[in-house]
Amino acid sequence: MVKTISKRVKNISPSATLTISAEAKKLASMGKPVINMSVGEPDFNTPKHIIDAAEKAMKEGKTFYTPTKGIPELLDAIADYYSEKGFDISPENVIVTPGAKYAIFEAIMSVIDEGDEVILLDPSWVSYEPCIKVAGGKVVWVPHSAGFEDAPVEEYITRKTKLIIINSPSNPLGVIYPEKFLKKIRDLAIDYETLVLSDEIYDRIVFEDKARSIAEFEDMLEKTIIINGFSKTYSMTGWRLGYAIANKDIVKYMTRLQSHSVSHPTSFVQYAGVAALKGDQSCVDKMVKEFKVRRDIMMEHIKDMGLEFAPPKGAFYMFVNVNKDSMEFCEKFLKEKYVATTPGKAFGNSYSTWIRLSYATSRENIEEAMNRLAEFIS
Ligand SMILES: Cc1ncc(COP(=O)(O)O)c(C=O)c1O
Repeated sequence: MVKTISKRVKNISPSATLTISAEAKKLASMGKPVINMSVGEPDFNTPKHIIDAAEKAMKEGKTFYTPTKGIPELLDAIADYYSEKGFDISPENVIVTPGAKYAIFEAIMSVIDEGDEVILLDPSWVSYEPCIKVAGGKVVWVPHSAGFEDAPVEEYITRKTKLIIINSPSNPLGVIYPEKFLKKIRDLAIDYETLVLSDEIYDRIVFEDKARSIAEFEDMLEKTIIINGFSKTYSMTGWRLGYAIANKDIVKYMTRLQSHSVSHPTSFVQYAGVAALKGDQSCVDKMVKEFKVRRDIMMEHIKDMGLEFAPPKGAFYMFVNVNKDSMEFCEKFLKEKYVATTPGKAFGNSYSTWIRLSYATSRENIEEAMNRLAEFIS
C-alpha cells in the first residue's frame, strides 16, 4: 500500500455529529418530517446591523490582508468587552481567528508537546480531543460527579498535566460550573503548574446563575487561555470569527502559527465583529429570552417523562439519560420518529446511555419532538 496519510491524522475519528446530520438531511430530502435536534448553531438570522457593517467594509475596499492577529479596532473591542467584565487585559493579549474552533486548535498546538497530558471533562465538546491528538498530547478523561457540577480532577491530574480544558456554559451539558468547582480547578492549576483553556463561547447564553471565568480567580489570568467568538452570541456561525485571550507569550506563538496557516480571519468579517461587540445588544437579549422559553418547554417534557438530565442553565442543549445504548437509540429514534439527536458517545467515554438535545429549533418543533420522544420511549 502506498504510504500517504499521516499517523497524526489517521488517529482522528470522523465526527459522530456529522454522521447523524447527514442521515437527517437524507431523510428530509426524501420528504420525511425530520426535526433536527442535533444542531450546534442558533436558528436566528445574523442581526442586520452586523451584516450592514460587513457590506460597508467591503464597499469601502476593506478587502485586503489585515494584520495576522486581527484589525486593531476588533482587538480593542474584544479587550474592552473583557475589561468591562473586570479583566486587566489589553489588545496585546488578544488574537482573532477564523472561528473559535481555530483559536482552540492554535492554542493547543502552541502549548502541547508530544506526551503532555490534557485533562478533558467527560462529556466535552467534540473537537477538543482531536485537537489534542493532532498536537501529540494525551487525553485524560475525567467523568463528572453526580449532578454534573463537579468532577474529581484531583484524582487524575499528574505532573505531566500541561492543560485543563473547561467549557462553561458547557456543550453538551448546558451546565454552568459553580464557583466551588472553578476554585478547585484554580488551586490544582497552581499546585501542578498547568495552564487552563477556558472555552467561554456560550458566556452570554445564560438563564440562571452567572457564568464565571476561571481567569477571574487569583493568579489565573496569566495561566488561562480564554476562548470566545461570535458564532453563538450573534448567530454568526458561517462567518467564522472567534478569538483567544492569553498571556503575551502564548499570543505571540499563536500569531506565528496563524501567520503560516490561515493568515487571519476574512477582512470585512472582522469589521462585522466590531459592529457586533460595539453595536446594539438587544438582539442578544432577545435570542437568550427565546432560548430560555424553549429550554423551559423542553425541560418540562423531559421531567414529565421521568428522565434524568444535567441542569440546563446555559447554552442551548440538554443532556438526558435515555437508559439505553445511545448510538442505537439515536439511530432508531431518527429512523422511526424522524428526530435527529446526538449520542453521548460523541462527547467522551462515560455517558453511553445519554443523548444531547439541542433546542436551537422552534417551539413548535420542540413540542412535536418531545411528543415523539414520549411515544418512542413508552
Ligand atoms: C464549546 C464550543 N467551543 C467552540 C465551538 C466552535 O465555535 P466556532 O463556530 O466559533 O468555531 C463550538 C461550536 O459548536 C462549541 O460548541
